Amino acid sequence: MNVNTQKLSSARFAQATDAFVEIFTASVDFDKRMAQQDIQGSIAHATMLCRVGVLTQAELDLIVNGLAQIRDEIERGEFEWSIKQEDVHMNIEAKLTDLIGIAGKKLHTGRSRNDQVATDIRLYLRDEITSILVELKRLQLAILTLAQTHAETIMPGFTHLQVAQPITFGHHLMAWFEMLCRDAERLSDCSKRLNVSPLGAAALAGTSYPIDRHLSAQLLGFSRPSNNSLDSVSDRDFAIEFTASASILMMHLSRFSEELILWASAQFDFIDIPDAFCTGSSIMPQKKNPDVPELVRGKSGRVTGHLMALLMLMKSQPLAYNKDNQEDKEPIFDTVDTLLNCLRAYADMVPHLVAKKENMYRAAKQGFATATDLADYLVRKGLAFRDAHEIVGLAVRLGVETKRDLSELSLSELQSFSALIGEEVFDVLSLEGSVASRSHIGGTAPNTVKFAIENARQQLN
Ligand code: ARG
Repeated sequence: MNVNTQKLSSARFAQATDAFVEIFTASVDFDKRMAQQDIQGSIAHATMLCRVGVLTQAELDLIVNGLAQIRDEIERGEFEWSIKQEDVHMNIEAKLTDLIGIAGKKLHTGRSRNDQVATDIRLYLRDEITSILVELKRLQLAILTLAQTHAETIMPGFTHLQVAQPITFGHHLMAWFEMLCRDAERLSDCSKRLNVSPLGAAALAGTSYPIDRHLSAQLLGFSRPSNNSLDSVSDRDFAIEFTASASILMMHLSRFSEELILWASAQFDFIDIPDAFCTGSSIMPQKKNPDVPELVRGKSGRVTGHLMALLMLMKSQPLAYNKDNQEDKEPIFDTVDTLLNCLRAYADMVPHLVAKKENMYRAAKQGFATATDLADYLVRKGLAFRDAHEIVGLAVRLGVETKRDLSELSLSELQSFSALIGEEVFDVLSLEGSVASRSHIGGTAPNTVKFAIENARQQLN
């Protein structure tokens, strides 16, 4: 057995940790990412200890200065992380004691790594959610601008991926916008719920020192101290909630991606994704692949995987803290990175998407997209909807047989199906007439879409 010495927590052990176990149990390689939050939490804890008389002002000053020095060293990339100190918390504490001596050893009074790590991840996620929301908003603004440009651009709307009814491209873009609004709400909501301070829960049962949990919570910008010490050190709901919100957001981006990929194909040919966001093929010279949307679609699976991992991580844990929880970090970090990267790629790409209006228009002309408009026209003339539906079905059949759109049938042909049909029917059979008639809230009419964009802009600001 290989042995190591000098661990902060090792006095109880007669034997030193096995060298491989030391590597196996260490988390510093990844949890050093929370170093800034760890220092922030320690300063708040020490400040509170001083305020209640557990530390002297001189000790607090030493601790705060020492931690500030460590923070600078970390920022400069000069801090020497060691797996001998297992994790970010013990690395920083050990270094502090090296720097300031006995006062450093007092920092951990009335605290455990259990409430410390629970605090750090919450602070970390709170910060990251703020950054994610900034990128999300940038994407939303890009969508709004593109929707504005295309408030009148006509394209086919689909159900079952079959041409259904004509819509405006701006309206389609605003559907994506709405999904992202709900994603932003979910993330803000998650941020509010996780903003509760675990500090003071200590290992699991609280501490016998006369601590002021309100003060440490307030110093860290938490809304309040948590209610139950056992729950505080073991709860990772907030991480699950975050990855769940992230999975839904990624699912939305994946749907968005799927449409862009289809539309960029020669078969649809609705959009052009600029070269800067595509790559070529190493063998087929003609290829231009929509890599960015494809990767985002692929990465949605990865984030949902992290959600599953965290659910499984928690499902059988007895109260309170268990070392299992160390496994929460990598899924959380990777979810944050993936989300930020995908949002960034999308926010950069969307302003450069080029809609091929003529192709969209031509596609909307195929597939009898205005059949429902003809039925509605007949209803306005006094027919019951089911009867109108039947008549239009016959007209569509003639169109299919003679390879013509409804708007290309002659008036007398149309009148052969119903005498109620008059000259003005061609207004409703046109794509422009069809979309313009859907002018209620949430409809696809260009004016309604412009109104929705205006509202959305105000909501975002
Ligand atoms: N690295 C640990 C984690 O991420 C910190 C808490 C360790 N606590 C303990 N009792 N071993 O969860």
